[in-house]
Amino acid sequence: MPTPTKLGWIGAGRMGYAMAERLAKGGCDIAVWNRTREKALPLEKSGAKVVNQLEELSTRDILFVMVATYDDVKEVLARALASASKGGKPKMVVECSSISLEGSAELRRMLKGKGIAYLAAPVSGNAKVIKAGKLTFVVSGPRHAYDEARPYLDMMGAGSSYVGEGELSRIAKICHNVMLGVVIQNLCEITVLAEKAGMPRHAFLDFLNKSVMGSMFTRYKTPALVNLDFHVTFTPKLLRKDLDLGLDAGRRFDVPMPLSSLTRDLLQQMIGRGMSEQDFSTLLLMQAQNAGLKLEPEDVPVSDGLS
Ligand SMILES: NC(=O)c1ccc[n+]([C@@H]2O[C@H](COP(=O)([O-])OP(=O)(O)OC[C@H]3O[C@@H](n4cnc5c(N)ncnc54)[C@H](OP(=O)(O)O)[C@@H]3O)[C@@H](O)[C@H]2O)c1
Repeated sequence: MPTPTKLGWIGAGRMGYAMAERLAKGGCDIAVWNRTREKALPLEKSGAKVVNQLEELSTRDILFVMVATYDDVKEVLARALASASKGGKPKMVVECSSISLEGSAELRRMLKGKGIAYLAAPVSGNAKVIKAGKLTFVVSGPRHAYDEARPYLDMMGAGSSYVGEGELSRIAKICHNVMLGVVIQNLCEITVLAEKAGMPRHAFLDFLNKSVMGSMFTRYKTPALVNLDFHVTFTPKLLRKDLDLGLDAGRRFDVPMPLSSLTRDLLQQMIGRGMSEQDFSTLLLMQAQNAGLKLEPEDVPVSDGLS
């Protein structure tokens, strides 16, 4: 019998927790570290081992990372791999956070220097999407590493798209999240317009979701927009980070991005008003305020299309 692959996991935030949980529930040998240890502890019920020290993950075969920004990724990996040469090292790092092309390339150089393969594997979907088994990955890096990691990526959701070598997956993810920002802003604009013209939000969104313009995203945001349930799935500041990554990439590749620039400014206005602790879809509240419309929860049961 071959020895089972030992997985290591860094980061049990909203995304990391739900992803690691799927691997643990799937029967993988997985050890998890999170800066705030208590947040990771419930994963033990699903079969994961929660470690005290990051360094304990240096001997896992495949090390996954899901934290927030590139600075955080750099910090946790430097600590996890500090003793890698002495006590063994992972075969591969799979980095899933949404970070820049440049940061990802720097990481690849650092890991190459240590003889560790590296996959850049950002994701699409929030924690609820993960629970529903619909998370997707976009992956770049060496093909042989992808083939080896693929069964674990598959266990976490609905599959992965391999897009080639180097940091190509980073640009795909950045483009994806720029679209997320522009779409949520527009969805909020038209929902406020429909309501101010006299229509209940749930009726308008019911029509939109059934139409060719409806999507998994418009459907799973519908409960928030109808019933004003803004518990966080993704913070305004993380979305601002991704729009900034998109605008930086636009400058680097000489691509004008007028809608993305405007959306970034609108998001900044919302954050500047102190609206940063709830979900990014509170753009609806700012749009309503700007339109002189007072929103009330409609208290109507609406499907999110996921559960
Ligand atoms: N939420 C979404 O819908 C979504 C979707 C796709 C991609 N993403 C991307 O996925 C990543 C994680 O997002 P999230 O929503 O899970 O964020 P989150 O809930 O804020 O979790 C962030 C995680 O990073 C850890 N962390 C942050 N800074 C750290 C540091 N300096 N050292 C060690 N650990 C650190 C946090 O540890 P603590 O628990 O100790 O704070 C936590 O585990 C981000 O890059 C985000 O852009 C998010």
